[in-house]
Amino acid sequence: MKPLLFPLFNNNSSLGNQLLSSDLFELGSTDIRRFPDGESYVRTITPVQHRNVVILANLHRPDDKLLPLLFLCQALRDQQAKHITIVSPYLPYMRQDKRFHTGECITSAVFASLLSEATDELITIDPHLHRYHSLSEIYNIKTQVLKADNTIANWIKQNIKKPLVIGPDSESEQWAAATAEMIGCPHLVLLKERFGDRDVKISTPDAGILTDHTPVLVDDIISTGRTMIETADMLKAEGFRAPICIGVHAVFSENDYQALADSDIEKVITCNTIEHHSNGIDLSELIINALESQFN
Ligand code: R5P
Repeated sequence: MKPLLFPLFNNNSSLGNQLLSSDLFELGSTDIRRFPDGESYVRTITPVQHRNVVILANLHRPDDKLLPLLFLCQALRDQQAKHITIVSPYLPYMRQDKRFHTGECITSAVFASLLSEATDELITIDPHLHRYHSLSEIYNIKTQVLKADNTIANWIKQNIKKPLVIGPDSESEQWAAATAEMIGCPHLVLLKERFGDRDVKISTPDAGILTDHTPVLVDDIISTGRTMIETADMLKAEGFRAPICIGVHAVFSENDYQALADSDIEKVITCNTIEHHSNGIDLSELIINALESQFN
């Protein structure tokens, strides 16, 4: 029997549609809604006993989504679903990975323990692993981390002449270096200092000799866009042309996106882990392949 796929929160996302058209799954049906008092009503309609279940739940802006998701997982367990996999292409709360100030909650760890209680497995794409080296440091279920670098490298190869891949900070070394190697082009990793949510300073090692290349900024998350904007300004001052900005996860709010689009950049391209009009790189095949090997 095919696994059941329950797309949550956005039944019409490009990823959801691609997963369904892959013919790997049977579509599961739920009734999830809010009571007038704001509490959630959650019911599964499709029988799930002894079935493998995949919940496609994009957890970007997670606070309103988490409770219905936890309720759904419990309802599936109560009905003896065989194995529950949550696919969250963007994994939230990964950036608070330490107590930066006394009294702060390490939200990444709390979020991880809630999901670990609720489900058997988690699949995600390029989670923000900075001080954590692996999700197993906070998740105690099976996790699969998929990487967008190969798909991004192919997109750059097909669309950009003479690229120079640039990672804006030391955390981005992992994907900037791998992406550049796949393309066979040079890469640079810059230095970033963050003084506040929207206050970022970028500096560079001597990049002058590469100014004849097309700068391609690659980062996992674009949120306020400040990292990209500051990097673009710094590159301009160094004599580079306007950069192409690639983000795996289009986290931004509309105003932040607009500020980035209006800054000194050529264009913004993101992957479709979060539905957004800047999406230009499709990662559905990555997820389909991972699920295909899991269930075969
Ligand atoms: C930070 O460590 C991440 O890798 C991104 O560089 C960061 O989240 C981007 O945030 P923003 O767009 O707000 O500068």
